[in-house]
Amino acid sequence: MKIGALRETQEGEARVAVTPSSAAHLQKLGHEVYVEAGAGKAAGFSDEDYRRAGVTVEASAADLIGAVDVVAKVRPPSEGEIGQMREGQTVISFFYPAQSAALLEQAKDQGVTAIAMDMVPRISRAQKMDALSSMANIAGYRAVIEAANNFGRFFTGQVTAAGKVPPAKVLVVGAGVAGLASIGAAVSLGAQVYAFDVRPEVAEQIESMGAEFVYLDFSEAQTDGAATGGYAAPSSPEFREAQLARFRELAPQMDIVITTALIPGRDAPKLWTADMVAAMKTGSVIVDLAAERGGNCDLTVPDERIVTENGVVIIGYTDFPSRMGAQSSELYGNNIRHFMADLTPKKDGVIAHNMEDDVIRGATVTHDHAITYPPPPPKIAAIAAQKPKEKKKELTPEERRAAEAAAFKAETRSQLMLLGGGGLLLLLIGLVAPASFMSHFIVFVLACFVGFRVIWNVAHSLHTPLMAITNAISSIIILGALMQIGSGSWLVLILAALSVLMAGVNIFGGFMVTRRMLAMFQKS
Ligand code: NAI
Repeated sequence: MKIGALRETQEGEARVAVTPSSAAHLQKLGHEVYVEAGAGKAAGFSDEDYRRAGVTVEASAADLIGAVDVVAKVRPPSEGEIGQMREGQTVISFFYPAQSAALLEQAKDQGVTAIAMDMVPRISRAQKMDALSSMANIAGYRAVIEAANNFGRFFTGQVTAAGKVPPAKVLVVGAGVAGLASIGAAVSLGAQVYAFDVRPEVAEQIESMGAEFVYLDFSEAQTDGAATGGYAAPSSPEFREAQLARFRELAPQMDIVITTALIPGRDAPKLWTADMVAAMKTGSVIVDLAAERGGNCDLTVPDERIVTENGVVIIGYTDFPSRMGAQSSELYGNNIRHFMADLTPKKDGVIAHNMEDDVIRGATVTHDHAITYPPPPPKIAAIAAQKPKEKKKELTPEERRAAEAAAFKAETRSQLMLLGGGGLLLLLIGLVAPASFMSHFIVFVLACFVGFRVIWNVAHSLHTPLMAITNAISSIIILGALMQIGSGSWLVLILAALSVLMAGVNIFGGFMVTRRMLAMFQKS
């Protein structure tokens, strides 16, 4: 099939849906690739770059639409662009079907298949096609760069001859894709980073990135993101109040606030109120990534940078990915080519639009003269929904103490029974086995017991390095084998040689694995 990227016509849009490198991957799927002349210019790709990658450059949008079977775009197609398309053609781009009823009708009437990149379900298998996440990742990174550009001080703390500089304090509200990217960028610039999210399961992720999770003194069980397809659900008014109270405490201390809180399909929740802005220091910066949906901050003006009376800069740009056009195009181009790979399962250039596939079905909003939006929930979510997690009952302190005492008694009883049973077994073996065997056997049993107890108490994440190093040490067996290797018996010789070989593998393998594991935790 022929796939081609149109030049984006929206003012200031620097992205392009196909890059020279993504074109090469599309060609490997058996497709011919086209672009409209100048399509990649704003992202830094010349027509010549495309030609070198084997892409055909068409002079105008009309020529491109006429030449291809699949039209790729970044922004939703205009009515004019859909109007030029023919029956059976496919358009793949951001589409925002909930806000584009007229466009959906037009595509349906013309028999155009529309694939909305913003509708790719957030399931593990579809991560490589998740364009919203790719763009949010870039926006989160860029938000920190924009904040640093507007902030009059260092991010990192320094001790200089001229004086001590404290690190900037950054608060990230909403630790989804964009929020985590902001945390990563701010931590790497040396700031002291705090982050908050309504989903408590992200606390571990936040802390592993070197930031501090802002806990609330609130007992409401939080929403389980997994149940809603990776997104949060709205929180109660009481929770919101507790959250705002905590933010009011933090506002005077924070230098930079980056807000990314959003629940899909809703307006952005107002979380950074006017009085919090008023409480911030002069020169502080707020970057509101949710500006497009009304903003998380009361004072945000979409697409503008404003300075409040008390000297706080509030940035409400909605085009952060486009401000990094080259990077965004590479990632978006990759998302598109992965989607095309799913549409071309045999890699023979023939598109099989399989509506039974969760990802293809989820993203297809018109097909075969029908509007196929909204899609049914993905099967994976439906399976998860059938098995709600059992919630643990909250115990009173007395109940907890009683439960702990009962568990201790049960464990002691089972240990005593094990000891008794083991002792009896040893006695029985001792009745028939020779004395020399028994002394070795007792050492062996004790070694197993001690080894088991030691390893049992080590965190799972450390088992691999622990096992690797104990393997290496236990390979002391090699000494025994070396002592036997000079024996006259060929059987003993073979066994000893085998032991040396196995122990050698253990020693070298153990140290290599340990080194690799440790390198993962070393800061470069
Ligand atoms: P996401 O859904 O992955 O993350 C949103 C996070 O906000 C979730 O972790 C959610 O739990 C959290 N959240 C929801 N309600 C909250 C509340 N009341 N308090 C605290 N946290 C709350 O979304 P993603 O992909 O990270 O996008 C974040 C925002 O960035 C969205 O508003 C998106 O539209 C925007 N965005 C902006 C761009 C720009 O150029 N300005 C470009 C790309 C994305």
